[in-house]
Amino acid sequence: MKLASLVQKSRSFRRFDETKEIPVKKVEAWIKTLRFLPSARNLQPLRYVVIRSAEPRERLFPLLGWAGYLKGKGTPKEGERPSLYVVIGYDSRLTQNPAMDIGIAAQTLLLLAVSDGYGGCMIGSFDPARVREVVGMEEWFGVGLVVALGKPKEKVVIVPVERGIEYYRDEKGTHYVPKRSVEEIWIKTI
Ligand SMILES: Cc1cc2nc3c(=O)[nH]c(=O)nc-3n(C[C@H](O)[C@H](O)[C@H](O)COP(=O)(O)O)c2cc1C
Repeated sequence: MKLASLVQKSRSFRRFDETKEIPVKKVEAWIKTLRFLPSARNLQPLRYVVIRSAEPRERLFPLLGWAGYLKGKGTPKEGERPSLYVVIGYDSRLTQNPAMDIGIAAQTLLLLAVSDGYGGCMIGSFDPARVREVVGMEEWFGVGLVVALGKPKEKVVIVPVERGIEYYRDEKGTHYVPKRSVEEIWIKTI
């Protein structure tokens, strides 16, 4: 698939077929690819923890804030939860400013997942200290983002921004994401 189509197809998915596990080999290939990402000052401060087992998955899930605009209705139900999480952390002894590197890693990971028929959602809404506890890491491990992954089981539709930028769902559960037009975001070429 062309990269432009992959980017369009890679939406934030929050409902999954929980019975469809992501094979270890796939996750391995994704994480191995992340080694090649650019990073500020080539510090390569990012560190990854993959959560596949049921016990840490169950401990992590309630710590995550899902789809804030849907006011509780966007939290995946049992059977629709992610089958895997990648916690993107950073070595705080190397940098205190990892946000851009984390963004690059998270989007690359999602694109890799979509290219293999999976998908997911970046989650930034959590208490880092509690997530650090779940992954069993020490103070130096800063928790950046959690990427929830699985086999998506929902329809996500892009719509123009009319009523606002808040995503919403209809009675069938289709998830709509308003996106600004090219005219609005592309100011000029000089
Ligand atoms: C840095 C970052 C943090 C995010 N944190 C959350 C989050 O905590 N919970 C959640 O449900 N979605 C989260 N999202 C997903 C956004 O809500 C989503 O990107 C937005 O609604 C647009 O939908 P789209 O990704 O399908 O384009 C996050 C996205 C980014 C880039």
